Amino acid sequence: MNAHQFDVIVVGAGGAGLMAGLYASRTAKTAVISKLYPTRSHTGAAQGGISAALGNLEEDRIEWHTYDSIKGSDYLGDQDAIQFMCEEAPQAILELEHMGLPFDRTPEGRISQRFFGGHTNNETGKPVRRACHAADRTGHMILQTLYQQCLKNKVNFFDEYQAIDLLIENGRAVGVVAIELATGELHTFHAKAVIFATGGHGRIFEVTSNAYAYTGDGAAMLLRKGLPLEDMEFFQFHPTGIYKLGILITEGVRGDGGVLINGKGERFMPKYAPTVKDLASRDVVSRAIYTEIREGRGINGSNYVYLDVRPETVNRIAELDGRTNPDGSKYTVTGEQILQKLPDIIDFCRVYLGVDPVTQMMPIQPTAHYTMGGIPTNKYGEVVIDDKQTPFPGLYAAGECACVSVHGGNRLGTNSLLDLVVFGKHAGLRAAEYANGVEFESLPKQPEAAARSQFDALRHATGKENVYDISTEMKKIMFDLVGIYRTEKDMLVAIEKVRELKQRYANVKVTDTGKIFNTELINAWELGNMLELAEVIAVSALNRKESRGGHSREDYPNRDDKEWMKHTLVVKQADELKISYKPVTVTKYQPKVRVY
Ligand code: FUM
Repeated sequence: MNAHQFDVIVVGAGGAGLMAGLYASRTAKTAVISKLYPTRSHTGAAQGGISAALGNLEEDRIEWHTYDSIKGSDYLGDQDAIQFMCEEAPQAILELEHMGLPFDRTPEGRISQRFFGGHTNNETGKPVRRACHAADRTGHMILQTLYQQCLKNKVNFFDEYQAIDLLIENGRAVGVVAIELATGELHTFHAKAVIFATGGHGRIFEVTSNAYAYTGDGAAMLLRKGLPLEDMEFFQFHPTGIYKLGILITEGVRGDGGVLINGKGERFMPKYAPTVKDLASRDVVSRAIYTEIREGRGINGSNYVYLDVRPETVNRIAELDGRTNPDGSKYTVTGEQILQKLPDIIDFCRVYLGVDPVTQMMPIQPTAHYTMGGIPTNKYGEVVIDDKQTPFPGLYAAGECACVSVHGGNRLGTNSLLDLVVFGKHAGLRAAEYANGVEFESLPKQPEAAARSQFDALRHATGKENVYDISTEMKKIMFDLVGIYRTEKDMLVAIEKVRELKQRYANVKVTDTGKIFNTELINAWELGNMLELAEVIAVSALNRKESRGGHSREDYPNRDDKEWMKHTLVVKQADELKISYKPVTVTKYQPKVRVY
């Protein structure tokens, strides 16, 4: 009863997992297993939009989207993969539209698009409207739409099954072992192809926009199997999280005219990015906020600043900046329009802060947001294991857990939703094609043995250490010492402390020994994953002696293309992390200094 067999198993039911499941299921018997109910996946938290050079409101070009993404990645993104993604973007949006996604519309009935950080007209350098949106619920709408399509296509779902081990036999991925959360029973999923779409690991940091589920399970599982992780030093801090809580306040706020204000009441972004100002890319804006705070210009000297989208401010700034509507008329907004464009974030602020963004400024601080590194793949979602891009048979990854690499050192806003739709689709197609061309490989003997001993050990752990305490310490260390700004001194401390926490974790106590919805046990296991990845992030960051994108070292403040135009690969061998490199694919854009 606990043994299942499918051609393709997808682990994770966010946007990438659903897209992969949908496409694989068209030709292969496919199941999606997820630790959550699918529509609770973290894709639902993506707010502001999905990028594509549709040019619905003004001229835009695929070439501009490609170049902006390369420049945004601080030249660490692989240019062939970025071009592929941007070329696929318009078709991907139309496909979502045809599936029923309720995009906002222009008065003429076209899909509406808004400004977002780093999206520019490459000829004028000015912002261009490229983000297709459904109010500030774009990710949520993608999730609902894809889930409905999967149900229509009879994809098999195993909801609330936590995958805990990848099965490998004769050098091939042959399935996964998962724990059914409702019963605590282990299940073996035998497959010809396995797709990981397990999301990122932002919960490693103290202040984060990421859901509780974002604990890096997929990446940690593969690390334990001796497979490499790529560019783990690159983690994105989104400029605008709700102060202390980290909950995302979409960049769409600034796209629609909102501005950042410091404790002296000044709009400070023009100082850091004179052309695009508040719409510079995220690494630039996060550092600017952090600098304002460090130099004592936070609100009341505290560690937050304001995001101001009150109509009177938006209209005054639009006048000053000469902002116009696409038809050339003066850009103005009313309170009702703000409410209509940004309903969710207005709700969040009202509920969590008692602040009404239509009449009050929002207190914000940078929040750990997006995992740029991860499981190395090529643009077809095949997991690749070395500098020659050798695929690991039967194993695929897509979405935030994967590193294609289309985001390089820094992702542009709205390219994540595009990434998961495009590469989820291709991973699904490629996995199904592979599965249809091979026989089932046998399972390892006693496929559940490793997972069972790991879980039994945790369930009956009688140590003295508390999961919550270790977790809280790890998050603080990572946020403070391996955060927006980094130094060798801080990172050495972080590595030492994370290693101490790993030792303490070996002595952890789980008080609930039951089987039914044992969330304490699952949290303990997830903490093990986060500790593994925290160490990889800190070690990779210490090793990269330059500043690039979201990796900003005060002791090496410049980008060093001569030495560091290369991807980091980390593997774990005999409990040691080993670093190697692979080249960045440059097609036509040689690295330049980024100017905003
Ligand atoms: O700001 C936002 O709405 C986030 C979008 C993204 O991370 O792409």
